[in-house]
Amino acid sequence: MKPNGTVLVTGGAGYVGSHTVVELLNSNYSVIAIDNLVNCYAHKKEKPESLKRVEQLTGQTIVFYDVDIRNRQALDKIFKSHKIDSVIHFAALKAVGESVKTPLTYYQNNIAGSSTLFEVMQANGVKNVVFSSSATVYGTPQFLPMTEDHPTGQNCTNPYGKTKYFVEEILKDVCIADPDWKVISLRYFNPVGAHESGHIGEDPSGVPNNLMPYISQVAIGRREKLYVFGDDYPTKDGTGVRDYIHITDLAIGHLKALQKMSEPDFKGWKTYNLGTGQGYSVLELIEAFSKASGKKINYAIVHRREGDVATSYADPSLARKELHWQATKGIDEMCRDTWKWQKQNPNGFKKE
Ligand code: NAD
Ligand code: WQD
Repeated sequence: MKPNGTVLVTGGAGYVGSHTVVELLNSNYSVIAIDNLVNCYAHKKEKPESLKRVEQLTGQTIVFYDVDIRNRQALDKIFKSHKIDSVIHFAALKAVGESVKTPLTYYQNNIAGSSTLFEVMQANGVKNVVFSSSATVYGTPQFLPMTEDHPTGQNCTNPYGKTKYFVEEILKDVCIADPDWKVISLRYFNPVGAHESGHIGEDPSGVPNNLMPYISQVAIGRREKLYVFGDDYPTKDGTGVRDYIHITDLAIGHLKALQKMSEPDFKGWKTYNLGTGQGYSVLELIEAFSKASGKKINYAIVHRREGDVATSYADPSLARKELHWQATKGIDEMCRDTWKWQKQNPNGFKKE
């Protein structure tokens, strides 16, 4: 066991999970990763490719279990076989459009899965958790920049967003019932980019739902053009504005949360925004990516995407004050690292 203890990382083979595991290993934490491989690539059910790459990058070994967080017995066995100090809970389904079509799958996976995990944690006396939440809990912004006390849940427009809201509410109630729990819910804005080595990055299956991986697949020639969803928003150039945050900055936010929870006077439930506080439009991101990659990004303006808001960006000052965390990488580094990953891995983690 390493000096900072052992962290169980659910969804550890995914995009945010794998980048966080790098930072944990580099900061003297031992890591146990679990993932049911629903949204990550593993050759013939071996250790997921993302985690093999993390092992190469860090020169360290990750204990990995191919386990679903809804599998109570399997989870319990893991908690009984290791001395786990804290959990970082990433495992979830995250495709907004899919969640509208199959809400029960999302509620089952994200809510039932989370509550099973928390029950097993409680039964094994592990009561420290960092939860992957999302700016989506704020729904349509009522004011900008959004602070942590912006209302949540009221106008979450899709089942995915509601699962994040409900799990936050579950965790608040758990903390009320048992003061030994320590919970930090991190509300991510728009995570993008890749590890600066280009060895790990975002590997969406099928057509990317999100802007950055779509742009990068256009740049590499996997897709012909980007469809820009609307240019008639009340923004600087009419396209949607978002707070993009580099994945390594985001990953480090989780370490800061663990450190915060280990302070003797920390108790109960707290939430922090992880964003830069700066908004960029779709056209600005296209421009920055063109510059970073030296490629022209073909695009066409099409109608708005249902459920999109015009502008979203964080007030990240609470995380700066209380977690001593702040984003350090700007839009150019986000594009540079995405491009490095995409160029080195034109088909993502699959080699063929
Ligand atoms: P991801 O899909 O790359 O990673 C999630 C991982 O969880 C995947 O490897 C998947 O196989 C695994 N998983 C899903 N259901 C599981 C289950 N029942 N049991 C075990 N493993 C399971 O997604 P990501 O982008 O890394 O997101 C991580 C977390 O951050 C998610 O909770 C997501 O909702 C949240 N989040 C992501 C974003 C974003 O834009 N990427 C923004 C805000 C919040
Ligand atoms: C960004 C901007 C689009 C794709 C989503 C989830 C949110 C969170 C992060 C998990 C918007 C525009 C996009 C495209 C486009 N995930 N766009 N063409 O919608 O802010 O947030 O991911 O919690 O819950 O909703 O991110 O990357 O999809 O879109 O024009 O092909 O790019 O309209 O303005 P979004 P995004």
